Amino acid sequence: MARDISRREWLIGTTAIAGGLLFNSGATAQSVTIEGYVPTAENPIRMMANENPYGLNKAASNAMHKAHKYGHLYGGGGASVELIKLIASQEKVPAENVLLSGGSGEILNTLALLVSIEGGKVLAPYPTYDDNFMDYANRRGIERIWVPVDDNMAIDLDAMKAAYTDDVKLIYLCNPNNPLPTVMHADKLREFCIEMSKKCIVFVDEAYYEYVSDPLYDTMIPLAMEHENIIVTRTASKVHAFAGIRIGFGFGRKTILDKVRSLMTGSINGPAVFGAIASYQDKKYQDFVIGKNKESLQVLYDFFDKHNMRHIKSNANFTFFETGIDVQEVRKRILKHGIAIGRPFEPFTKWCRISTSKPEDMKYFTEVYEKEFLI
Ligand SMILES: Cc1ncc(COP(=O)(O)O)c(C=O)c1O
Repeated sequence: MARDISRREWLIGTTAIAGGLLFNSGATAQSVTIEGYVPTAENPIRMMANENPYGLNKAASNAMHKAHKYGHLYGGGGASVELIKLIASQEKVPAENVLLSGGSGEILNTLALLVSIEGGKVLAPYPTYDDNFMDYANRRGIERIWVPVDDNMAIDLDAMKAAYTDDVKLIYLCNPNNPLPTVMHADKLREFCIEMSKKCIVFVDEAYYEYVSDPLYDTMIPLAMEHENIIVTRTASKVHAFAGIRIGFGFGRKTILDKVRSLMTGSINGPAVFGAIASYQDKKYQDFVIGKNKESLQVLYDFFDKHNMRHIKSNANFTFFETGIDVQEVRKRILKHGIAIGRPFEPFTKWCRISTSKPEDMKYFTEVYEKEFLI
């Protein structure tokens, strides 16, 4: 029989809280680990937007506070150049092959704009991340060719190749994919990128790169250095918790980056750049977030295994599991307990995308789900 779920049961001890605060700024409010917080439908625990529940890294937060004194200087008084150099050295590529943006979404949107100006269709797996690039392409009236994922819910590169037509201008690939946190293996993807980039732009979105644990996965950044038509993006929004601060990167040959740059209209804010410089140097914080994400996923896997529920072993900060009933109904009933989960993703409307919050929050979710749907 399910116990009554009282918020108090889910408060964790002060030692654990202090452990977390060694690294992070403790800014997040929507977690059962925060004393005094009560999950409600109006102020739910956020398991719907693939955010980092630990908030900004302390070093980044401090750097941003200090950066206020440079607020009057364009581009943070040269800090943007420092950030680009830092990322270039971490990825072992020349600085001219790195493009800085206000969140990777800015580059995604600009690529859609590029297609709309130069003409042609876009080819993408289905489902995939349909905000930014795919959404903007739609708004610009670009024809989108969708290729269903395979039986393992992974992107089907053979089917994508077969669906290619001469009027495709760009192929969008998310690796790991979203909302399905599956990955394409490096050898096969490399081969695909080399072949298809002779015909059109191949865009590999690596927003969840840092979370990947599949040993057969690899970044396509080195390949993008060698081939004109390949572009890769990364974001500070996930492991670095910059979703609201906005920092992202593009990687590619100078020709394609210059084309994208010529269409970009955003501007980077100085404090965000100073924060990113601190965050990308703080490996300890990144390891902390990645470790906690694994713990949170494990809480979910144990629960799904206990109830024989089909799910994806994730390579990101979210996973996908079978509800067996309309996910809209699940969302409504879960929200009553103060948890917001992912929207429907067709054609998998009896599955649910759930983003990881802290492990204690995931435990709270499993209790709620068990009580609401399984007992
Ligand atoms: C696959 C993917 N790409 C890009 C983005 C955009 O991220 P941002 O604009 O915050 O860098 C997201 C956001 O969730 C995403 O899931």
